[in-house]
Amino acid sequence: MGEQEHMSADRPLVEGEPVIVRRREGEAYLLALRATPQSVEGVGVIDLSGQVGAPPGGTIEWAGATYRILRPSLADLLRQLRRRAQIITPKDAQQLLYLAQVGPGTRVAEAGAGSGALTVVLAHAVGAAGHVVSYDRRSDFLEVARQNVTRAGLSDRVRFVERDVTVDGFDEHLLDGIVLDVPEPWGALEAARKALAIGGAMAAYTPTYNQLERTVRTLRDLGFEEVRSIELLERTLHVGEGGTRPEFEMLGHTAFLTGARRVS
Ligand SMILES: C[S@@+](CC[C@H](N)C(=O)[O-])C[C@H]1O[C@@H](n2cnc3c(N)ncnc32)[C@H](O)[C@@H]1O
Repeated sequence: MGEQEHMSADRPLVEGEPVIVRRREGEAYLLALRATPQSVEGVGVIDLSGQVGAPPGGTIEWAGATYRILRPSLADLLRQLRRRAQIITPKDAQQLLYLAQVGPGTRVAEAGAGSGALTVVLAHAVGAAGHVVSYDRRSDFLEVARQNVTRAGLSDRVRFVERDVTVDGFDEHLLDGIVLDVPEPWGALEAARKALAIGGAMAAYTPTYNQLERTVRTLRDLGFEEVRSIELLERTLHVGEGGTRPEFEMLGHTAFLTGARRVS
């Protein structure tokens, strides 16, 4: 992965890397590129051997239809997640990256891993030079998150730890950022403060006002600064000649997002 990030987007596909196999406007499958035929759960056997060494964008005939082979986008990776816990939506995930100062080469931690949706977004954002540590107190969720991160081809950037962070905190020091998506984030804030570098940032995802208030109060009590909470509403546009308008339904409340910074 590391070297590939500096290579052109049309570099040849290599064996073992994740690819998305997509029928036009139809179903898509996230698979590892193999030089031998492989079975796709519930569908049948697919042979992608001809794509090894080929540039992305090639097509194959399979199961009576034409499928295109591409490198997965971040949207593909999130759409293909196997879900256990409720996952963070893209509108919130991208803002959490901003609030927690997550970028290429940064070292970040999150709790809890859940289904690993945010873990995939974090691992994608830190790049090959960065690192993500993902905590969850439940081994079954950690296993689902680990599988999703592996299918996304990002497992070399992520370490999973089974732990209740409100009891035992974080192993790391001098982190750039921490994201909390647990029901009681305030219980982990003192540990988060110790794990962050001076100047490091934290972000919390809280679905209710009650959780938001207690989180912000605790952040202020612990001396965090630049404390700020927001909510994002997402409205899709229906675009048609002479009839462009917002869709009638929108993605309204998901959660409140809070960012804060350790300054001393
Ligand atoms: C809503 S899910 C997280 C979803 C995840 N952010 C995603 O996008 O897929 C919340 C997770 O937090 C875990 N959790 C709850 N309290 C925790 C704690 N104190 N320490 C560690 N994990 C915790 C739960 O087991 C659950 O997997």
